[in-house]
Amino acid sequence: MASPLVLYALAALFLYAVCRVAVKWFRLRHIPGPRYHGISLLPLVYKCWRGRLHEDLRKLFDTYGPIVRIGPNEIVCNDVPTMHRILGSKSPYNKAQWFVIARLNGDGDTVQSMFDKEQRSTRMAQVLPGYAGKDGQSFEGCIDRAIASLVHLIDTKYISTGTEFRPLDLASRFGFFSMDMVGEVAVGQQFGFMAEDRDWSNILHTYDMMLPIIQILGNYPWLAKMTYRWPISLLLPKEGDGTGFGAATSVYMRVIDSRLSQQAPSPKDTKPKHDMLQSFIAHGLGREELKHEMSLVFLAGSDTTANALRAAFLCLLSNPAALARLRAEVDGNAGAGTSAHVNTLPYLNAAVHEALRVYPSVSSSLFHKEVPARGDTLAGRFVPGGTSVGTGGAVFAVCRSRAIWGDDADVFRPERWLEADEGELAEMEAAWGLVFSVGQFRCLGKQLALLALRKVVYELVRRYDFQAVDPARPASFFSAIVWVWQRFEVRVTRREGQRSSSTAMAGL
Ligand code: HEM
Repeated sequence: MASPLVLYALAALFLYAVCRVAVKWFRLRHIPGPRYHGISLLPLVYKCWRGRLHEDLRKLFDTYGPIVRIGPNEIVCNDVPTMHRILGSKSPYNKAQWFVIARLNGDGDTVQSMFDKEQRSTRMAQVLPGYAGKDGQSFEGCIDRAIASLVHLIDTKYISTGTEFRPLDLASRFGFFSMDMVGEVAVGQQFGFMAEDRDWSNILHTYDMMLPIIQILGNYPWLAKMTYRWPISLLLPKEGDGTGFGAATSVYMRVIDSRLSQQAPSPKDTKPKHDMLQSFIAHGLGREELKHEMSLVFLAGSDTTANALRAAFLCLLSNPAALARLRAEVDGNAGAGTSAHVNTLPYLNAAVHEALRVYPSVSSSLFHKEVPARGDTLAGRFVPGGTSVGTGGAVFAVCRSRAIWGDDADVFRPERWLEADEGELAEMEAAWGLVFSVGQFRCLGKQLALLALRKVVYELVRRYDFQAVDPARPASFFSAIVWVWQRFEVRVTRREGQRSSSTAMAGL
């Protein structure tokens, strides 16, 4: 029999736990939402685990209105003007502890994981010129070289004919393209994903496997912090590993070390470098800071871009009329496919916008921001200071809102961007802008990503015909922060009159 002292202690502990839950629940009792979400984070964790958080949150908004409680201290809001106010450049909101998971290597911060506003603005000043291409980089040249590799890969391995079937999985190949493109932009070289036509370090597979776990950890920052401490930290990927993040880190650390010691990466290559890395170095980042910021460039830039490309092609294959109209525009405007050219093609731009609206690349990342100490009124309800508002969690719901986009909100219809009048367009742009976030929390790679998307869609639509291998279920993917694509197989044929890459490459 347990002694009465132990029983008293257990009873006191239980009472304390109940009081804590009650106090937390009471604080936000006026925010609508399912009752059980106010008591524990477990219902939210379950929704994350199911891989359908984007849809679940959309349903919650439909049921409870523009502001919904999703945890004891967590809410989401899908009112567009309110989200712009929270994210705005002068907003007093800060990153909430959720961003502990953005500390990618565990032993240091990136511009995305810094909580101290002053420290963050110093780092921002150091990295922004690199992301904006202000230090002599030619992002366009980098994108073109990556597209040339992709076209070469398709031409040499994946063209089907009447007698030969060579299925191409766009899910993985757009992943390879994006890693290599970001490699070009970040450190001036491709990483060989397209050249080897495989995930040679298993990084993409590892990342996809980790995303559901990372998404759940975001709800428990204390647990995320524990994983960065000894002994669990020993299990984290590190430079020198044979596979996964560690192997990829080793590749760019070699480039970083070589640049820092001012040796050219290859004996033949003595030209001055104009890439993000060189810009970061020029603005004063040291080896460790470069390691963290480069990890961010790759993780923030590759899967998001790949997802947008996958979405664009899935949408185009699902809407033959849109594909035909895009083709007509591309064929009728024969040009070099330069940025100056693709940026002025209205239907192409509308199609890229629309694909990102239907499938916003960051599909269900809560990206919590913390309400300032004095509290704030959101969508008509007072929210006390310290509450976490998941600004990212509402993006999918906003992008598919019937109130904003009409009854066909779920349909990929690029025409909506061309038919809208000035007032409607402003409202649509404000909602769509959340796909890349805005203000002080905006995506730093937006212009690069949009240019890459326009150029890739232009080149592939111009050169090839695509057919879904399984028309009933062309692709499969679920949501864990971003969309995690498992499969998207197509049959590719060369369009009549299109040359193979060996003869056409010079014209890219
Ligand atoms: C379609 C492509 C992309 C989408 C939809 C996208 C979306 C986003 C979103 C929603 C955020 C903000 C999160 C927040 O509220 O805190 C973000 C942040 C960020 N993105 Fe992107 N992104 C894309 C491509 C890229 C690329 C290509 C790069 C770089 C090469 C990049 C670099 C970053 C960085 C560094 C941040 C962190 C900004 C900060 O916290 O200050 N992104 N992105």
